[in-house]
Amino acid sequence: MKTALVTGASRGLGEALVVCLAKRGYRVHGLVRTPQAAEVLHARCAAAMPIIGDVARPEVITAIHEALSRRTDGVHLLINNAGSGASIRAMHDGIEEEIAAHVNVHCLGALRVSRAALPFLRRAEPALIVNVSSRFGSTARAAAGLFQGHALSYAYPIAKAAQNMLTLRMAEELRSSQVRVCAVHPGQVQTASGSPDAITTPTEAAVRLLDWLESPPADLHGCYVDLDTGRQGW
Ligand SMILES: NC(=O)c1ccc[n+]([C@@H]2O[C@H](COP(=O)([O-])OP(=O)(O)OC[C@H]3O[C@@H](n4cnc5c(N)ncnc54)[C@H](OP(=O)(O)O)[C@@H]3O)[C@@H](O)[C@H]2O)c1
Repeated sequence: MKTALVTGASRGLGEALVVCLAKRGYRVHGLVRTPQAAEVLHARCAAAMPIIGDVARPEVITAIHEALSRRTDGVHLLINNAGSGASIRAMHDGIEEEIAAHVNVHCLGALRVSRAALPFLRRAEPALIVNVSSRFGSTARAAAGLFQGHALSYAYPIAKAAQNMLTLRMAEELRSSQVRVCAVHPGQVQTASGSPDAITTPTEAAVRLLDWLESPPADLHGCYVDLDTGRQGW
């Protein structure tokens, strides 16, 4: 039986991933921020094993390490999914704080969780880390003008671009191991963080991501994929 860890499991895409992974026979650990969210996740998916922690805080490393040490030897799949949208679209008061907070969640949060899980991923090799990115993290697309006209915040694309560079750095470090790392834009998903014109339900997005992971490309390691359109430029 394979084991997975999914962050941001209280709702949206993360919750759907937990439910779909459990249905596919995985033992699933879901990171949520509160005991109440842990109860809700358990009610939604009795097989799910909640871990309580905030990826924005360093203590999450110990919380994950302790929980995994008690419950499992290895983790085959880590999905760094926790994160949310941002709002400030011009150089106004509060923008530095919003950017710092989002980089702390999307980039440093994924790093903290990956550090905590790495010994367990190594024990389960071949293993995989999926960083849930966004098309808006692509500097190639931004430079090509593809986001012109979008009502974009500063913080969200900056944080996702930072997370993308984290993916590349982790891929470089882990190149000689059997732990693969990739970045995935999950599509436009109907969640609290999704855009109003999103047409994909969280369950559809989760199924599509997990189906893709079942037959990954040979050059998965260090790749950046848009599940709507295919491979995309960093
Ligand atoms: N929806 C889209 O169209 C779309 C498109 C591209 C990429 N994404 C990415 O997909 C991922 C999931 O987003 P979603 O659409 O499912 O959003 P969502 O419904 O807003 O869910 C966000 C999840 O992340 C958790 N989270 C946020 N900050 C956290 C923190 N500091 N520590 C731990 N958990 C935290 C939330 O927990 P709480 O319930 O405690 O707040 C929640 O479980 C995000 O990384 C997002 O950037 C989404």
